[in-house]
Amino acid sequence: MGRTDSPTIRSLLRALGAFGLLTLFAPGTSHAGEGRSPELNRIGQGDPRDGYSSPDYETRSRAVPGQTGIRAELAELATTAPLGLPELPNPPSQALIDLGRKLFFDRRLSDNNTLSCGMCHIPEQAFTQNELATPVGIEGRFVRRNAPALYNVGYRKVLFHDARETELSKQIWAPLLAQNEMGNSSKSAVLGKVDADPVYAAAFTDLFEEGLTDRSLGLALAGYQRALLSGDSPFDRWFYGGDSDALNDAAKRGFRLFDEHQCSRCHQFSNSYAHFTDDALHRTGIGFRSQQLRAQPVKSLQIAPGVIVPLTIDVIPPAHGDQGLKEISGEERDLWRYRTPSLRNAAITHPYMHDGSLPTLEAVIEFYDSGGGADPAKDPLLVPLGLTARQKKDLEAFLRSLTAHNVDILAADARSAPIGDPVRH
Ligand code: HEC
Ligand code: HEC
Repeated sequence: MGRTDSPTIRSLLRALGAFGLLTLFAPGTSHAGEGRSPELNRIGQGDPRDGYSSPDYETRSRAVPGQTGIRAELAELATTAPLGLPELPNPPSQALIDLGRKLFFDRRLSDNNTLSCGMCHIPEQAFTQNELATPVGIEGRFVRRNAPALYNVGYRKVLFHDARETELSKQIWAPLLAQNEMGNSSKSAVLGKVDADPVYAAAFTDLFEEGLTDRSLGLALAGYQRALLSGDSPFDRWFYGGDSDALNDAAKRGFRLFDEHQCSRCHQFSNSYAHFTDDALHRTGIGFRSQQLRAQPVKSLQIAPGVIVPLTIDVIPPAHGDQGLKEISGEERDLWRYRTPSLRNAAITHPYMHDGSLPTLEAVIEFYDSGGGADPAKDPLLVPLGLTARQKKDLEAFLRSLTAHNVDILAADARSAPIGDPVRH
């Protein structure tokens, strides 16, 4: 994939840069986390774009206020796992977490020093991106899949939507070396840059006998991500904590529907903890649905709030040909099989599915109510449910009860990292 040097792209990037500066100084209006303490009111910085089709639309995108950050005791969190989560094996030390956090938000880890891990996994947007179905990589390049939220990622047995990786400490080389993500040419190019910063060089010598290697860089980044534990939600306090007031009746009814309608066969929970995933891959009908949608010509384009341009020619969006597990195994039966995502914090991890094709929980529930759409080879567990309007609301209330108490704390902690600025160690 060649680099683009066209003047139009460069001026567009400059304009976007200027916009970034403007938003940095825009007054923050925070109404996302009403009822939460103001200094930790960090989740929900993304623009939900409600009413974007109207000319009166005003953006609700908010700047990260000052990005000062409030450090949390992440090592302690990792050692005493929150209610509803099992013990985390080999919990990371605070020193490892601090090193990993700094690396995670360091833009110098990309080839041209512009893109950090934390710009696709945005802490205020649930360590995913709420505004984009699929993220934008280095130099504006297209990435075909939705960025997963990283809460509780240390428990995952398989990583990525197609489960092609199993070890968090090795996963880093996929984004670091992908030409459409962070764009580095080789492992040694990345290690050389990290080693050139004396603060990093000293930290790696302190923490690892081997010093800085491709392995220890992975362990440091994994150390931070493994500490992003997020349980103790209203659901956990009710189900595991025995507090009958922790959950309202709608969410309790929703939980029963979730169990009765087989959701929990894949989004599993046990008597002592819940990951709401089986770490396995299934064909739910999303791959089929997305392919069908892409095959239909686009009739109009919305280019700004209230500005819809009809198209006079038939435009078929380019197919990006995502085949799920089949790409790894080569087996036809693995076509469009994707990993079951955890449902913890589902209320804030939108948009949903491997391609970000469902924008809201309502849309996800409609999708399951329809039995996973028209895919003839989807998993037999997916059948039309015939839910009433109230049952759909109840199911949604249950999914919304899975948001942890500490998501703002984790977002504020993330901003205690210096953002790739060598002066602010
Ligand atoms: C350009 C945006 C982008 C950048 C930069 C990026 N990621 Fe990701 N990340 C993604 C996408 C998209 C996926 C899903 C890819 C897939 O499944 O094929 C992903 C997947 C992951 C996963 C797997 C999570 C899971 O539940 O399976 C982890 C862990 C992760 N990224 C960590 C990182 C780290 C660490 C960095 C920095 C070294 C990073 N990411 C940089 C977009 C990005
Ligand atoms: C056969 C296994 C299976 C069953 C049954 C199932 N799911 Fe899923 N679920 C998945 C898989 C796999 C995905 C991811 C699909 C993709 O990425 O394209 C998913 C995605 C989701 C998501 C989106 C999560 C995210 O972060 O993108 C939600 C919410 C969800 N399911 C809720 C439910 C509910 C509610 C039910 C019951 C009505 C249910 N699921 C039944 C396997 C299942």
